[in-house]
Amino acid sequence: MSTATITTPAPTSKDLGYKAFTAGQFRFERDEYFAHISYPGGRHIMPVEAFLRALMRDVAWGFFYGTVNFDSVLGTTNHYGTVDLYVGLYNDSYRSHKRHYVERFDSKALKQVYEGMLEDWTNEGFDPFAAPEETGLAYGAKHGTNTKAIKRQRVTAKRMVGLPGDAEYRTDQNGFPVNRAFADVPQTVPEVHAEPGFEGEVHGFNLYSYLSRSDVTWNPSVCSVVKDSLLCPTTEEHVLPITHGNDRVEWFVQVSDEIYWDIEDKATGRPISKVVMKAGDVAAMPADIRHRGYSPKRSMLIVWENNDNNVATLHASGKIKPYPVEF
Ligand SMILES: [Fe+2]
Repeated sequence: MSTATITTPAPTSKDLGYKAFTAGQFRFERDEYFAHISYPGGRHIMPVEAFLRALMRDVAWGFFYGTVNFDSVLGTTNHYGTVDLYVGLYNDSYRSHKRHYVERFDSKALKQVYEGMLEDWTNEGFDPFAAPEETGLAYGAKHGTNTKAIKRQRVTAKRMVGLPGDAEYRTDQNGFPVNRAFADVPQTVPEVHAEPGFEGEVHGFNLYSYLSRSDVTWNPSVCSVVKDSLLCPTTEEHVLPITHGNDRVEWFVQVSDEIYWDIEDKATGRPISKVVMKAGDVAAMPADIRHRGYSPKRSMLIVWENNDNNVATLHASGKIKPYPVEF
């Protein structure tokens, strides 16, 4: 298993003020517009704002479930404790020409490098979690930082948002005003009338109001938990910054507006289908696909995750089908 370390290279004649980072045999550098990734046998380039938006998700989600594809070439696969950093591993052309490259890291070590890179490469005014219309630009020589934006705590409710001691509601007072796209969402509060003796066991809150106050996009947050069943609502606008490769079935409930999904084969990237989800639609994303979403207007989506990692093992070994139902 490789080690992940941070290094500062000697300044060059065109030093832009950014640090370079290494993880095993991978080396990451950025310039005004691009992230450059070199590795034994090749190099890869990505627009820096797309790279930072993807990096932000990989860091905030702790490498998430399955694969986080930064684009069709670069990405990570979560092994829950260790993580693979790869180039071309899930790309037909790279694989068939044996140009892919992969290294395995201790998850905490790679996350630390990623956090350092995100912090150093994110300039003042650029928020990698925000919709493009709600943030500044990522470009140029290093100028300032945006620590507040990149250190947001992802909501991970222990039981449910709003319960005593659990994740808090979003309000004007604690810095979560209603988003411009959701000005028409009622901000009412439900009345909960529990039978005597059950007051501590019944709870409800206005999820529409809660989501209308989300200040980030494409960031499924754990809002209610029953054992391994995690309801992870999120607000989406513009393009999902990663292409997510599932290692288990993932249910989507489109709560408002519309999202267009590109569905591809997880291993090869070959196109499988286009899915349009309108408000009220429900889909089960299979365990053997990758998907990227496009949300023309800010929309509300509930992502329903199964947090039982045994399910991923059962899918990987082919013991259970990649989809949850047959019609
Ligand atoms: Fe997904």
